[in-house]
Amino acid sequence: MWKGLSLRLRLTIVYAGLLALLLTILGATFFVDTRNLLIENTASYIRATAKPVIEHWLYGKKVSEKNRDIVSEDYLRKIARFMARDLTSRNTVALVLDKRGKILAIGKLLKEEPAPPSPDPFYYRQALSGENEVTYILSKNDKHILVILIPLRSGPGSDRVLGAVQLSSPLARVEAILYRHGITLAAGTIITLLLGTILGLLAISSALSELRQMIVTCQNITEGRLDQRIDLPARSDEVGQLAEAFNKMVERLEAAFSAQRRFVASAAHELRTPLTAIRGSLEVLLRGAQDDPGSVATLCQGMYKEVVRLGELCEKLLDLARLEISVNVCKEDVVLSDFFESSLKQVKLIASGRKVLLEKGPYVSLKADPHLLKQIVFDLVQNAVQHTDEGGRLTLGWRLGVDAVQIWIEDNGYGILPEDLPRIFEPFYRGKGVSGWKKRPEGSGLGLTLVKTMVEAHGGKITVSSKVNEGTRFVIELPYR
Ligand SMILES: Nc1ncnc2c1ncn2[C@@H]1O[C@H](COP(=O)(O)OP(=O)(O)O)[C@@H](O)[C@H]1O
Ligand SMILES: [Mg+2]
Repeated sequence: MWKGLSLRLRLTIVYAGLLALLLTILGATFFVDTRNLLIENTASYIRATAKPVIEHWLYGKKVSEKNRDIVSEDYLRKIARFMARDLTSRNTVALVLDKRGKILAIGKLLKEEPAPPSPDPFYYRQALSGENEVTYILSKNDKHILVILIPLRSGPGSDRVLGAVQLSSPLARVEAILYRHGITLAAGTIITLLLGTILGLLAISSALSELRQMIVTCQNITEGRLDQRIDLPARSDEVGQLAEAFNKMVERLEAAFSAQRRFVASAAHELRTPLTAIRGSLEVLLRGAQDDPGSVATLCQGMYKEVVRLGELCEKLLDLARLEISVNVCKEDVVLSDFFESSLKQVKLIASGRKVLLEKGPYVSLKADPHLLKQIVFDLVQNAVQHTDEGGRLTLGWRLGVDAVQIWIEDNGYGILPEDLPRIFEPFYRGKGVSGWKKRPEGSGLGLTLVKTMVEAHGGKITVSSKVNEGTRFVIELPYR
């Protein structure tokens, strides 16, 4: 049920609940404290007014004679009536009691007034045992009465207790004040709770409205509109961060999708060219050229070349697909000096007469697939050969970087045009060629794409720098592990 509610509603309920709890605790504490304070005040007032009266009747002018027994029980019995009368006022009724709890006098003003409550034996014993003053609240027919017991001593500061005075005062006035106070508190709590909930709801709604905007954008994207972005005013909170991360993710998705579309379009185009050529040749043959053995041979040779090209293209596409799911990478320890030593012969063979230099670096062993590593080097050497004159020079070498080995393959050939440089790793991309080239090499444009994929399958990266008519340098960085 709770999970079925919207986030907005859930947050508002939690917020309002907490607010209500807080206000209730605060209100209750405040109310109880005020009540205690009012009662304490009333009691202090009654005690303060009673004390001089009691001293006057009991000790008269002998108040200063400390720690001496001045009066007896008989004396108390005599003056009880007067003391009770003087201690009684409009709100307070006094009772004078002796040691056994017997009432000696009641200070009731009128006969028809209700009698004051008789003392609670528990508290009365406390008062007689020497406790200075005992204060408690008595509940009688839903009315609360404040009762104060003051022990009567035989002399000021004496331990002998002759009896006690009970002063009782109804708490009606205090309760009326408290009632008004309670009503105000409750009204304040309800108003604060309502206002707080409304403001909270507004704040939560505004925070979530941006999330709702994101939901709409997500739905649009699911429908294939990858150019959609979440457009929020700049903000650095969690919602802003989420929007930023989301936009970045969509951007990458869009780039990946369009790269894939371009790849499929280029692949189709590459496949169509040889197929068109083969189809043309076949049509010529069907139209009767088969009678001329000379042209049959030429056409068949042409078709054979195209079929071989197609086969190679398919092979490279398959390699790419395999590498992209990285199932074909079998890493083992490769010692670079041994690796270059053993490859040098083949490299020289591919270089067909061009000078080959090996700039050896320090001893290093890294985790790599030796077959893929060989293919990377051979492909780059082949490119270098294709774009260099016969008298050219190739340089291979390695050195140790901070957390990766750098391997370079450099030539002093025609170089790459600046406008081609950022694109040569794209699938099917072939450079426009520098003027002065003897011939434009015929390739699929997949070579460097494959090299890059192989390097990345090792967790490495490849970079290129080139100057027209000076040469090209490819640098591969492979992590040690
Ligand atoms: N060593 C190099 N010197 C000059 N240009 C190069 C070199 N290597 C690659 N290129 C450029 O990069 C393009 C793409 O190379 P590549 O992907 O190997 O294509 P292909 O598979 O056709 O050989 C080439 O057409 C060429 O323009
Ligand atoms: Mg190539």
